Amino acid sequence: MTSLQPTSDLIPAPASSAPVAVEGPSRRGFLPDLGTTLFAAPGTRTTERWLRSTVGAALGLPLPPGEQHAVNSVTLLIDDSLESEAYRLGVVPSSGVEIRGGSAAGVFWGAQTLRQLLGPEAFRSAPVRSGPTHDIAHQVIEDAPRFPWRGLMLDVSRHFLPKDDVLRYLDLLAAHKLNVFHFHLTDDQGWRIEIKRHPRLTEVGAWRARTKYGHRGSELWDERPHGGYYTQDDIREIVAYAAERHITVVPEIDIPGHSQAAIAAYPELGNTDVIDTTTLSVWDNWGVNPNVLAPTDNTLRFYEGVFEELLGLFPATFIHIGGDECPKDQWKVSPAAQARIRELGLADEDELQSWFIRHFDSWLADRGRRLIGWDEILEGGLAPGAAVSSWRGYAGGIAAAEAGHDVVMCPEQQVYLDHRQHGGPDEPMPIGYVRTLEDVYRFEPVPPALSPEAAAHIVGTQANVWTEVMQDRSRVDYQVFPRLAAFAEVAWSALPAPAERDFADFERRMAAHYARLDAFGVDYRPPGGPLPWQRRPGVIGRPIEGAPPNV
Ligand code: ACM
Repeated sequence: MTSLQPTSDLIPAPASSAPVAVEGPSRRGFLPDLGTTLFAAPGTRTTERWLRSTVGAALGLPLPPGEQHAVNSVTLLIDDSLESEAYRLGVVPSSGVEIRGGSAAGVFWGAQTLRQLLGPEAFRSAPVRSGPTHDIAHQVIEDAPRFPWRGLMLDVSRHFLPKDDVLRYLDLLAAHKLNVFHFHLTDDQGWRIEIKRHPRLTEVGAWRARTKYGHRGSELWDERPHGGYYTQDDIREIVAYAAERHITVVPEIDIPGHSQAAIAAYPELGNTDVIDTTTLSVWDNWGVNPNVLAPTDNTLRFYEGVFEELLGLFPATFIHIGGDECPKDQWKVSPAAQARIRELGLADEDELQSWFIRHFDSWLADRGRRLIGWDEILEGGLAPGAAVSSWRGYAGGIAAAEAGHDVVMCPEQQVYLDHRQHGGPDEPMPIGYVRTLEDVYRFEPVPPALSPEAAAHIVGTQANVWTEVMQDRSRVDYQVFPRLAAFAEVAWSALPAPAERDFADFERRMAAHYARLDAFGVDYRPPGGPLPWQRRPGVIGRPIEGAPPNV
């Protein structure tokens, strides 16, 4: 009988894994080597390419084409009897590895599991020794995701992340079986996507003169100009790279608030009868900005042009239009905005915001897409197909789901990964709530009070990464990891209720996962706290609500 037990250090945890009994003095398990072949049935080409280019490259294995179920092989098959993203991975003595998926995506998630089984060396970019360091036990793993929307939102406006760093994050999402990349492309502090018909959006809007180092109370400044943007070919490359990994890119253009960078580029987009918008530049501070879009026909036509180019670049069904944190002060004193309210028969400025969102809701629906926005878009009513990112807690998501809208749960109290992950004094530039690895592990996306019909509208969950205090990739890594590993398990695995989750077992599995992250080169927060170069002594963060500042 086999003496090798299946490894149980997978993250996210699979639905089930069971050993396969082996008779006689056969090998202890499966050890891929230079002779291992790869068979990829039609429909599994993305995984075939990924296995050769990523796992093969890491382990120095060429994985040449071979026959289905050949001795010493990896076989990839589509199996219509499985749910779309489900997979069944078998490691059997007769051939080697077989991955069956309900779809191309299911096969790909199975291949992610295979990579983890192969050990941390499979997470490198080139071999440090030939082949994996240990056999894979004979076993069968059956697995399927809990939610169809398992996302990460990355804010590249507050701090621009070069394209290669974005591609690397797509690899990290894939390694955690996450499948939605919510790309926050515009905000007051920078516009990050080339729009051909409005070139000043990037000529002017992609750069700011200086950057606040720390949060609002800080008086430290980085006086270097900061910025950057993705050309449309960069965007096509990012979208294609994501698609190869079965990740959907959902772009966000934030309107009608969070728009100062656009107004700096095209002053006529702002409330010109309230302030002299020609004096505005791309914002160099953090917080909620009063300079919002004017509710004019010109603004609508301008953004229709932006979204037209966006639809040509992003095949995703959902397009995110932001809709959060739009202060109404300028509209209250703008004669033009007030005239618009009267002309449309609206009650107030909140209804004006709703009118704005509804315009793009139907504009997108007319083009076969669906609008998604932050939960403020609920105020004033939504068209039936629109969906909501519930960020101000669960309430918006509950209301939306009860009203029949699809919801992505991403409450700031639980899954804002910019928030500090420890209450100690060494945490770099700490902001928001203290949310530890265990807190994220115990996050539950579906509130128990929801009716079953409403619960079915919780299509998934995502972690959000706002980058005011993250100047570069290393800082992003520190905030995101290890917590994204816990989040991925919440999004993928069928975990019990929060209090019953086995965090000790998760921590045990994290020991293996840290080795994977090390091999990958992720600057995660170590369990013992930040390393010296990860600290930022003296840089002001933001106090915990109701508590004294801890810096
Ligand atoms: C948000 O955090 N303003 C969506």
